Amino acid sequence: MFKKRHLVEPGDFTIEEMDRLFDLAEQIERDQGYLRESCRGNILATLFFEPSTRTRLSFESAMLRLGGACIGFSEPNSSSASKGENLADTIRTVSCYADIIVMRNPKEGAALLASRYATVPVINAGDGGHHHPTQTLTDLLTIRQLQGSIEGLTVGFCGDLKFGRTVHSLAKALSRYPDITMIFISPQELEAPNYITEGILKKAGVSYIETHSLEKVIADLNVLYMTRVQRERFFNEEDYIRLKDSYILNREKMKQARDDLIILHPLPRVNEIAPELDEDPRASYFKQAKYGMYVRMALLASMLGRC
Ligand code: NCD
Repeated sequence: MFKKRHLVEPGDFTIEEMDRLFDLAEQIERDQGYLRESCRGNILATLFFEPSTRTRLSFESAMLRLGGACIGFSEPNSSSASKGENLADTIRTVSCYADIIVMRNPKEGAALLASRYATVPVINAGDGGHHHPTQTLTDLLTIRQLQGSIEGLTVGFCGDLKFGRTVHSLAKALSRYPDITMIFISPQELEAPNYITEGILKKAGVSYIETHSLEKVIADLNVLYMTRVQRERFFNEEDYIRLKDSYILNREKMKQARDDLIILHPLPRVNEIAPELDEDPRASYFKQAKYGMYVRMALLASMLGRC
């Protein structure tokens, strides 16, 4: 089902295929021995041209737990990219050494390009401000686990909705689930791009609103997806400094929220969630990071045809 395919953006998998991955991930969580050693003999290459903690380490941990091995780089200066090698040549070469490639790159479209030159499956671990489909699998699995299903929910996205690729991917994926309402909360300069709101949501008949005020909408939400202002995508530091603390979620603001709200964040967090909230039972971002590893185990084993 998943063998010999790429994962470049959330639309590459059907809802049924994602459900299968979530079932597998839940089974791995229940039975930590499940699929262990299923990828013995396989090699994962992690090519990270941009910084990462969770995505790279959770992929590597997932592969090691499946009995496979990992190669790669986390710093483009240590690869031949620094000598001027183009991405196509890097990918063609790494395809000779690894059975599957996970790549993060600052350029939008880089993963799609890689998938055209690779002779092994490519997983997009973030292409600039565009997409991040495995974070979306993580987010959907977390919502399914903690809210019981991915239907009939009001989901708020807050922060940098312009450059935040996790927002773009999750909004696109959620547009395919029934009865979802999305609320986009951002400063005017960091609003979600039109290709998401007009191009995808409106066309799909998804109900959504855009606002600048978190306080006004927080009581309506089942899921609050906080995001960091993406400093690395700004053209100048002054704009970043002006916008970076637009929203800071704290105890006071959470007084208005529902008891069954879940707070998600792809992490890393900078200032947008006060650490005082980490003990709040609604704060679910570290659980989310753990689900990320299980869903990546399910994804690797499936894409390698090992389950
Ligand atoms: C996100 C990313 O890289 O887009 N991080 C992640 O993979 N968990 C979010 C971010 O960097 O803000």
